[in-house]
Amino acid sequence: MMQQKHLILFVDDDPMILRGFQRSMDEYCENWEADFATSGNEALVKLSEHYFDALVTDMHMPGMDGNQLLEAANRITPGVLRFVLSGNTSDAQKLKSSNLVHQVIPKPCEMDRLYDIVERTCRLRDMLTAPQLVRIITGIRTLPSLPRLYNQLLEQLQSETASSLDVGNIIAQDPAMTAKILQLVNSAFFGLSENISNPQKAVTILGINTIKSLVLGIQVFSEYQGQRNLPVSVDVIWKHSLIVGGVASAIARRLSLNGQEREDARVSGVLHDVGMLLSFQIPEFFQHVRFYKNGHSVFESEYQFLGTSHAEMGGYLLGIWGLPSSIVEAVTFHHNPGVLGGIKPGLITALHLANGFINMCQLEKDKKYANYLDMPYLEKLGLVNRLDEWVSMTSDMLNNSN
Ligand SMILES: [Fe+2]
Ligand SMILES: [Fe+2]
Repeated sequence: MMQQKHLILFVDDDPMILRGFQRSMDEYCENWEADFATSGNEALVKLSEHYFDALVTDMHMPGMDGNQLLEAANRITPGVLRFVLSGNTSDAQKLKSSNLVHQVIPKPCEMDRLYDIVERTCRLRDMLTAPQLVRIITGIRTLPSLPRLYNQLLEQLQSETASSLDVGNIIAQDPAMTAKILQLVNSAFFGLSENISNPQKAVTILGINTIKSLVLGIQVFSEYQGQRNLPVSVDVIWKHSLIVGGVASAIARRLSLNGQEREDARVSGVLHDVGMLLSFQIPEFFQHVRFYKNGHSVFESEYQFLGTSHAEMGGYLLGIWGLPSSIVEAVTFHHNPGVLGGIKPGLITALHLANGFINMCQLEKDKKYANYLDMPYLEKLGLVNRLDEWVSMTSDMLNNSN
């Protein structure tokens, strides 16, 4: 896949810092074209005269500060991706809540890390605004909306006094959801030794985030359950998604990702194939795309016939729902993480491996890693010698869940 070049505008009142950016641009010139401004006003002139993919600005500048610049930039060119460099954590809080910034990058930041953050965001945006995808998505009459219960949980979690008990109480108000959650947490899939009899206890044992992702998954999948004449059953995809979530979280632990990332790995596993549900509403998928018998759609054949896939469709939906961009990114690129050009293992690595291993263990056809995994990507991250160990862990988890 040909990568397009991204146009980046750097803004900083300190000429030394700008020169530093300028000097390191040689290294990134294959993918970036950069321009530089020493003040907010100069940046606004450039933004109104030329197209830019991303704006990377310092926060504290004389005259117009970073915040004012973002506000004005958002008015002139709402599509530009906005990044702020700041060493101050209270700035970061304020900016995040204003929704004016896509990411606050802590200062000081090495250039290769800055490049990684900005370039990945650009590539995700390119993928989710590709004309083929937009054409397909706009052809879907009703996109599922974010479940009300999930919104209530989010509101509760934002309050400082949120407890497992409160979260459990909210779920308990929805008897159908309570029944489904309890059935799931008591199933072999979670392998818990004690019987969980109420949602409050489920939250205490499994953690608020896991329960949140289950609520989201259960709700979305249940909208499609009972539909007839689908090329693959919704239950099959749901089961696959749950186990991928479990394995992704276990691999995240082995990749030494932090607690939040391990939880996000589970969420992204539970939701990674949600785009397949959307694809059921598109007749072209039925006509052209082949499905394996265990529900794994053939990514390549989706691309061949439609120029996009269930992965981007899922990422698009989760993006509209406002899920964290790391989860949107992992879902969008779960079949081809190398396209993002990441430099170290992360959430997306865990999800890609989990999905690949599960498919490899379940499809009896052949057991070659290269048929399921993005090997050049894994080689770049230095992970190839760990695959045997992780695939046997996956097969144990799969056996225990049956
Ligand atoms: Fe997939
Ligand atoms: Fe999958």
